[in-house]
Amino acid sequence: MSKPMDAIMAQCKRRGFIYQASEIYGGINGFWDYGPLGAQLKKNLRDAWWQDMILRPCWGKPGPNGQPVRCVPVETRIIQHPKAWEASGHVGGFNDPMVDCKETKGRYRYDHVMVYVPAEGDPGDKPVFAYVGDQPSEARQHKKAAKTFGALASVALSSLPRPWQRVIAPDAEKPGSLTEPRQFNLMFKTYLGATAGADDVAYLRPETAQGVFIQFKNVVDTTRVRMPFGIGNTGTSFRNEVTPRNFTFRSREFDQAELEFFCHPDDSVAWYRFWRDFRMDWWKSLGLAGDNLLLREHDQDELSHYSQGTSDVEYRFPFTAPGFGELEGIAHRGNFDLTQHQQASGTKLEYFDPDRGERLPGGGRRGERYLPHCIEPAAGLDRGVLALLCEAYTRDDARPSPELMKLHPRLAPIKASVFPLVNKDGMREVAEQLHGELMAKYWRLGAIEFDEKQTIGKRYARMDEAGCPYCFTIDGQTIADQTVTVRDRDTGHQERIAVAGVVAYLGDKLDV
Ligand code: GAP
Repeated sequence: MSKPMDAIMAQCKRRGFIYQASEIYGGINGFWDYGPLGAQLKKNLRDAWWQDMILRPCWGKPGPNGQPVRCVPVETRIIQHPKAWEASGHVGGFNDPMVDCKETKGRYRYDHVMVYVPAEGDPGDKPVFAYVGDQPSEARQHKKAAKTFGALASVALSSLPRPWQRVIAPDAEKPGSLTEPRQFNLMFKTYLGATAGADDVAYLRPETAQGVFIQFKNVVDTTRVRMPFGIGNTGTSFRNEVTPRNFTFRSREFDQAELEFFCHPDDSVAWYRFWRDFRMDWWKSLGLAGDNLLLREHDQDELSHYSQGTSDVEYRFPFTAPGFGELEGIAHRGNFDLTQHQQASGTKLEYFDPDRGERLPGGGRRGERYLPHCIEPAAGLDRGVLALLCEAYTRDDARPSPELMKLHPRLAPIKASVFPLVNKDGMREVAEQLHGELMAKYWRLGAIEFDEKQTIGKRYARMDEAGCPYCFTIDGQTIADQTVTVRDRDTGHQERIAVAGVVAYLGDKLDV
């Protein structure tokens, strides 16, 4: 059964994971802020990506060439030369065709609008009912259409002859209010400098990937990277989404973590398969294992002309269930981007590979010049956090405080908490000392809390809701035999371990 999205959103707000941006001004559509727990959770996710993609790619597992995988980071700006976005195809092609409703002023993605028509026969003079799936309009229009026609079929708006004079728009009362589809560019525009004229237009990046292609030559020329290798880039991207919705799933400002992995064209399919499988394993390793995660290989007819494969790692979000929503795309991009930037900038972006080409008599090789192919695992960090929160949210009515967040210990914003059972008999002093030792060792990984307020049950409940995996309690017995209780968040099970062993115990559990 899918989890209730409204309860997850309420929990996120109540415990300080995610807040609506500009909430005191009534909010702003498509923008979300992170509270203290959410900010640390998202940082932990980005760190995990950085560790497993850049610092020790693929957990040290060799690539299809039998060698360790090599990746380096860059950090590129949100604003790049406007010509870069022309070359990448975003100025001309990053469009969603939209239809507007003249009656309600609603705006819909053309390819999302469906229409209820009679299951058999022609509607004649009667109106037909348009809707957008998963929105209130769907149920409303279904009811009206069923009353008018009885048995219903559902067809895409695009399949009906235009103009759509008999179509009642999703939230409208009268037929014929939908406009022709119009292109709507998703890039945010801004102006450089004070005059703000047409020549000063610049764009906020809609993806972090292009920064890598633009700096490809500099990375090759100034570092010792050799093919095959990856360049990772993380940061904020902007898309003026027409219908931002489903909490942070489709936002107008969001963070991406993208790797562009360059290799010889002959090796590209093997690398594509390698990255596709690793990225799926990676998300599983963070606690998204199970039926809610899916690797979906795109059909041939879904692929761009230059691509030899694209897969999506998809998660079954409560609002997509029983279907899935994209968490990350892994694309074989061929040499499309380098070709485009080479042409538009006039700068040669070919790579000279000294390890290829015909063998020379004295050993070594002649070398080969080529435009590398690129495999791109492109993850969304905000969508990642959302999937992790949805997966973690658990309701256990057997507990006094039934809501808990089963976050993976690697990502949990609070790693552990230390409680003195009561503030007497030296318990506070022992607890403070233990807290200090845990802080000294693990402060880089996330918070180590100290809580002495309210009943022990309430303190456990607070930590369960925050997703803290381990709580250590100092009680009367601690003073007698130097043991503490450790409580596991997911099972509620408690056991006694030596105070002196707590630091090692937590290190073991956090796998550090
Ligand atoms: N460079 C390729 C690229 O950007 P994409 O599939 O458009 O590919 C990659 O984006 C990931 O970025 C998506 O899988 C998703 O996780 C995230 N993403 C894209 N648009 C988003 C949005 N409007 N809100 C939140 N995340 C988004």
